[in-house]
Amino acid sequence: MNKKTFKDIDVKNKKVLVRADFNVPLDEMGNIVDDTRIKASLPTILYLIKHGAKVILCSHLGRPDGMVNPKLSLEPVSKRLSELLGQEVLMASDVIGDSAKELSANLKPGQVMLLENVRFHKEEEENDSRFAGELASLAEIYVNDAFGTAHRAHASTAGVACYLPAVAGFLMSSEIVALSKVMDNPARPFVVILGGAKISDKIGIIGKLLLKANTILIGGAMANTFLAAKGGKLGLSRYEKDKIAVANKILDEADKKNVKIVIPKDVIVAKEFAPNSKTKCVNALSIPDGYQALDIGPKTLKAFKKEIMNAQTIVWNGPMGVYEFDKFKKGTMKVAKYVAKSKAVSVVGGGDSVSSVNESGYADKINHISTGGGATLKFLEGANMPGIEMLLDKED
Ligand code: 3PG
Repeated sequence: MNKKTFKDIDVKNKKVLVRADFNVPLDEMGNIVDDTRIKASLPTILYLIKHGAKVILCSHLGRPDGMVNPKLSLEPVSKRLSELLGQEVLMASDVIGDSAKELSANLKPGQVMLLENVRFHKEEEENDSRFAGELASLAEIYVNDAFGTAHRAHASTAGVACYLPAVAGFLMSSEIVALSKVMDNPARPFVVILGGAKISDKIGIIGKLLLKANTILIGGAMANTFLAAKGGKLGLSRYEKDKIAVANKILDEADKKNVKIVIPKDVIVAKEFAPNSKTKCVNALSIPDGYQALDIGPKTLKAFKKEIMNAQTIVWNGPMGVYEFDKFKKGTMKVAKYVAKSKAVSVVGGGDSVSSVNESGYADKINHISTGGGATLKFLEGANMPGIEMLLDKED
């Protein structure tokens, strides 16, 4: 990696502003449902504590659109973080106001504080330079560890780097190293598994993968658009009518580039999109009227398994069906198992696929589980990542 990290800079007795991605799912009562991202930030925070830094954490949570929203306060994160660190995390009641200024000014080496949700200020998403300057004035060094938000050019992810020496944290650098490795020099066969709802979210990445992968396995609702492109009868299945031409173009390109694209042969269908609906397995190209595809079927799984077991590198993004409902999670869970059992170097990214891998119990068999959703896709497609670009280069 050509960027400086927190280990390249002396942090002793220094106030260090750490941008983390604590954008974690909360339930209706405001409890944290999945603390993966909080745990992933621990190595950087622990290193800074151990090396005598005064740690000032900041993050966004949800999309409050520049307004204070108590439901999106980072308070629950500070509590969880205190438990995980085994020491108090002081919570500021604002971002750049009196509370943040007072707490940061009095911070002692080894102490940790957390600012309130940076998106309570509209200036955050506008990357307002005054706001970035105020944020920077709380600290002497900036560490960006928020890989999940590195595709955003916001004040706390990019703007602040204009005012402070800016380096990568542990999570940021490990994501960059792991994702670059699979894309720059993948052992072959390189198999990509794509799922989720829409082709439109993934056009950029598919274009890039057509230049890199040997095989692309497509499941989830996005496979329906490919089935429609092949002239399939889709019943009530969700698909993107206006992207059929795009799907055809992808299939043509794949043909020209000798990339094998595998789409579902059979699917599990139901009349209703509901947890207890009655299911049946049908040919993916002839779904009966009144039915919709909600998972991939056994013949498709067999075809996917063959490719996964033969792979040397695997990148997986997006579930194979409606994995939130027990009746339609089998495809996603089986794919998690095959990826875990394969001998390939495996990378899984995207909130839904990561949750399903965690639920499958095979997470520890995956080589790298990315904390990014949109950021992972953007990184893999080679897009500009402002949160990384702004960091100091090794030779600086
Ligand atoms: C994510 O969850 O993907 C990141 O935290 C970025 O959140 P955003 O899409 O609201 O910018």
